Amino acid sequence: MERRTLSYIPKENRYEQMRYNYLGKNGLKVPAISLGLYRNFGDTDDFAAAKKMITTAFDLGITHFDLANNYGEPSGSAEINFGRILNEELSNYRDELLIATKAGYDMWPGPYGEWGSRKYMLSSLDQSLKRLKLDYVDIYYSHRYDPQTPLEETVGALDTAVRQGKALYVGVSNYPADVTRKVIKLFKELKTPFVSHQPNYSMFLRDAENELFNVLDEGGIGAIVFQPLYQGLLSTKYVQGIPNDSRVAKGVDSISAEQVTKERIEKVQKLKAIAAERNQSVAQMAIAWTLRHQVVASALIGASKTEQVIENVGALDNLSFTFEELQAIDNILGTFG
Ligand SMILES: NC(=O)c1ccc[n+]([C@@H]2O[C@H](COP(=O)([O-])OP(=O)(O)OC[C@H]3O[C@@H](n4cnc5c(N)ncnc54)[C@H](OP(=O)(O)O)[C@@H]3O)[C@@H](O)[C@H]2O)c1
Repeated sequence: MERRTLSYIPKENRYEQMRYNYLGKNGLKVPAISLGLYRNFGDTDDFAAAKKMITTAFDLGITHFDLANNYGEPSGSAEINFGRILNEELSNYRDELLIATKAGYDMWPGPYGEWGSRKYMLSSLDQSLKRLKLDYVDIYYSHRYDPQTPLEETVGALDTAVRQGKALYVGVSNYPADVTRKVIKLFKELKTPFVSHQPNYSMFLRDAENELFNVLDEGGIGAIVFQPLYQGLLSTKYVQGIPNDSRVAKGVDSISAEQVTKERIEKVQKLKAIAAERNQSVAQMAIAWTLRHQVVASALIGASKTEQVIENVGALDNLSFTFEELQAIDNILGTFG
């Protein structure tokens, strides 16, 4: 690879603080904390701030960046901006980076612009590669289960992406446990490098504990859990009300003021006392807590500021929980988490 002179020089000690976990029973390691570009990296966001978050993350050992065709406002702009940042600052480090993208949600008009058909999955990947200015992505995901398309077709499309050399590994996201079991079997038959499942998992949303984590564990598949901070609610930022610069105040589609309930704020205040005993912020403890499962290889965070990336990576300073701490946390969260 031709090496270029770039203005950003990564920190030499960037691999010292981060912990890297095997993704299931595969040879691929992922950083315990990965950065996602769902929000704050689109055309309506500050490009300089986005670039700083990416380079700061890389300096802290975050090698894994998670995208999807529809990330950013407008859809696709997060991939374009990430491609530009890669080209401007990180092009010498492509082999140190694990870049993921996905397809599944509404991306273009007509019958071929969403869900899980072969037609959509493979043309969307071509579009993503163009926006990212890459020859291949490291992990290509089916973003959601499509009950109308035969599972074999979606699985077959992901397998083709690997055989075309456009993806090194594949994954699924938001697939229910029973479907995931079938997917594991189908990929095994095809010998596709299926390595990852992305479920939504946090102290406030624990469904993955019911069955999915067991299915993944048995199948040797790793979990990269998204929204470990429940989009920011698992921090103290909403305790005094809704700050102007918060995601809830910005009014994006995925979270609204109704979700900032009295019950959740009370839970955060109680969690704060346990976090303080552990020398952590609530956000740091919430991230560490998701990583306590063997099957969870990485917590996939989002950030709107560089300081949040730094604080969140600080979760790694204390990843172990005593039995008493876990029980106290369960008592606070209650049965519904
Ligand atoms: N596969 C899927 O279907 C799917 C779905 C959603 C997300 N994801 C992936 O998961 C990634 C993370 O999602 P997410 O950003 O929604 O989840 P998140 O990590 O739970 O929330 C991130 C948001 O929380 C706030 N925050 C972060 N660190 C903080 C801290 N230390 N203190 C206070 N607030 C903090 C920031 O919001 P403010 O703007 O309020 O500062 C930040 O944008 C996405 O980028 C994407 O890659 C995947």
